[in-house]
Amino acid sequence: MTVAVRSFAKINLGLYIGARRADGFHDLRTVYQTIALHDVIRVSFGRGSGIEIQCSDPRVPLDSSNTCYRVAALVMEAAGAKGKVTIEIEKKLPVQGGMGAASSNAVATMFGLERALKKPLGGRTRLRIAAQVGSDLPLFVVGGTVLGVGRGEEVYPLPDLAVTPLVVITPEIGVSTPKAFADWDARAEQHTTAGRNQPELTHSGSSDRLFEVGCALSAWLTGLPDVLPNTGASAKVGSRAGNLLSDLVRTGIENDFEKVVFPQSPELRDMKRALERAGSRYASLSGSGSTLYGLFRSSAEAAKAASRLQKQGLKAIATSTLTRQRYWKQVASGS
Ligand code: C5P
Repeated sequence: MTVAVRSFAKINLGLYIGARRADGFHDLRTVYQTIALHDVIRVSFGRGSGIEIQCSDPRVPLDSSNTCYRVAALVMEAAGAKGKVTIEIEKKLPVQGGMGAASSNAVATMFGLERALKKPLGGRTRLRIAAQVGSDLPLFVVGGTVLGVGRGEEVYPLPDLAVTPLVVITPEIGVSTPKAFADWDARAEQHTTAGRNQPELTHSGSSDRLFEVGCALSAWLTGLPDVLPNTGASAKVGSRAGNLLSDLVRTGIENDFEKVVFPQSPELRDMKRALERAGSRYASLSGSGSTLYGLFRSSAEAAKAASRLQKQGLKAIATSTLTRQRYWKQVASGS
């Protein structure tokens, strides 16, 4: 029996990096958002033993270093199943693109294998296995708009933001996430030794900074006004979902990775500017890149911007965000 599962991508609406922890990971705060672009994963289970991965993209590893392999092994163990697992990855999303494709593929493998084995694992076990394999996996167990804390693996579903059209640019270059984190550390070190007072980058300052970011994110997500109601501002709590664009622009939510990735690859900063020039109200690097996205007011504006960017030689695709409900409906609908 072969089960097909759609494996959706994500973007990060703001990403803040804190101090490097004793375990080598970094504390962070981010809002993940699933989007409609996807790969397709086909999982089959039969007689024999072992895990085989098939993918025509030479950049995708086919051995046990592939996160799909690791998840499949853990699912087999949790389900107490024995047999041969075959995972076919139909790749459309970029590799090392900052859209969480490899992590999403692994979670889609988990969903597919559960169905092939006819052994549903339950949310708690799914989240535990996902977090064991990588920081970016658990968000795909939840889908929609998701708050990520800890090293990104601790996830909380947020009320879904309204469906928003966007344009994604997928440059040819890949960015290594561990290297981007190491570059962030080197930058923090440089600022400290240079004696420049950048408290947001130092270890003692970064927990204060994450707390401040937490306050800002919470206020933004709740739709709390910046000014207290009794000072004259009209408080419209909870209006955030419909006003994502104006809120993001006003709050100025940022992705810290831009500070280390753009100086090394200035062409990515140019692409962000190209998105802005094409009419995007909010543009940003996704994760550690190299994907950039821009949010638009309407699908027509996004489609127009995508074709304008394509004429400039950029790989631009118009798509939209995916709410939790649509995510679950479409994950199950396979290819
Ligand atoms: O969790 P994941 O396997 O995706 O992480 C890959 C690498 O990225 C880690 O080994 C670590 O170097 C870095 N990382 C980090 N802080 C995080 C997430 C990842 O330093 N919050």
